[in-house]
Amino acid sequence: MTKKIVAISGSLRKDAVCTQIANTLEELAPAGTTVEVVTLNDIPMLNEDLKANGSPAPVAALTQQLVDADALVLITPEYNRSTSGALKNVIDWLSKEDAAPLAGMPVEIISHSPGATGGLMANHSLRSILAVPGAKVMAGFEVAISGSFGKVEGGKLTDEGTRDFVAGKLQGLLATLEAKAAA
Ligand code: FNR
Repeated sequence: MTKKIVAISGSLRKDAVCTQIANTLEELAPAGTTVEVVTLNDIPMLNEDLKANGSPAPVAALTQQLVDADALVLITPEYNRSTSGALKNVIDWLSKEDAAPLAGMPVEIISHSPGATGGLMANHSLRSILAVPGAKVMAGFEVAISGSFGKVEGGKLTDEGTRDFVAGKLQGLLATLEAKAAA
C-alpha cells in the first residue's frame, strides 16, 4: 500500500537548501511512497489568542495532513547552533492541537549547513523539542549534511553519496512502519 511522508522545510527563503532537499525526497524514497512537501511561510507566530475560534486555517490544514500521513521528515537549517524559529513555532502549534498529530509519529531529521558541522546542533535541538509532543525520532546516526551549498543544484539534492545516505534513511523510516504493522 502507498505510504505517505510529509516533509517540512524549516527555512522560509525562496531558494532554501532545506526546500531543495525536501523536493528531492520523493525520488529517493522507496517505490510506492509519496512525499508531500510543506513550507511554513503561512504559519503565523504562535499566539494562543488566535485559537479563540479554532486554530488558524494553515495550522488546522497541516494538522490534518499529518494525521493522514505515515511519517514525517523535518529538514532544518542551523541558526545560532539551533533549529529555525519557523520549525520551533510550528512544533509549538502542533503540540497544542487536539488531534496530537506528532504523538507517536515516526520522524527523520535532516539538518544541513554550508559549513563543516552539517547543522548537527540544530539536528539535536530539534530532537529535544520533539520529545514532549511524543514524536518517535529515528535512532542511529544523524543526517547532517555538511558543505550543503555544493550538494544541491537546480532545486534538487545532487551529491551522490548524500542522496544514497538519505535514501537509506528513508528506507529505514518506512521499515519501522512495516514492523509496526506486523506487530
Ligand atoms: C546562520 N547560519 C549558520 N550556519 C551554521 O552552520 N551554524 C549556525 O549556527 C548558523 N547560524 C545562523 C544564524 C542565522 C540567523 C542565519 C540567517 C544563518 C547560516 C545558515 O546555515 C545558512 O544561512 C543556510 O543557508 C540556511 O539554510 P537554507 O535557508 O539554505 O535552508
